[in-house]
Amino acid sequence: MSDVTIQVRDNGPLRIEGPVRLVDQSGEEIAFEGDVLKLCRCGASSTKPFCDGEHGRIGFDAVHTRAPADE
Ligand code: FES
Repeated sequence: MSDVTIQVRDNGPLRIEGPVRLVDQSGEEIAFEGDVLKLCRCGASSTKPFCDGEHGRIGFDAVHTRAPADE
């Protein structure tokens, strides 16, 4: 059995490592290379759903973007 690891990066993307399939809202496969994906969670990437590093430029602060129910 293969494992998939999803790591929440500090003030950055979700890093997904393992054999996964990425699809869009229509179920169409989104191609990527390698076994590691970095998915944007700051909303600022110009290459969504992938992280393009923009989180660093905008000063993404994940602590302050949680829903009030999480606090
Ligand atoms: S998390 Fe990296 S650009 Fe959004």
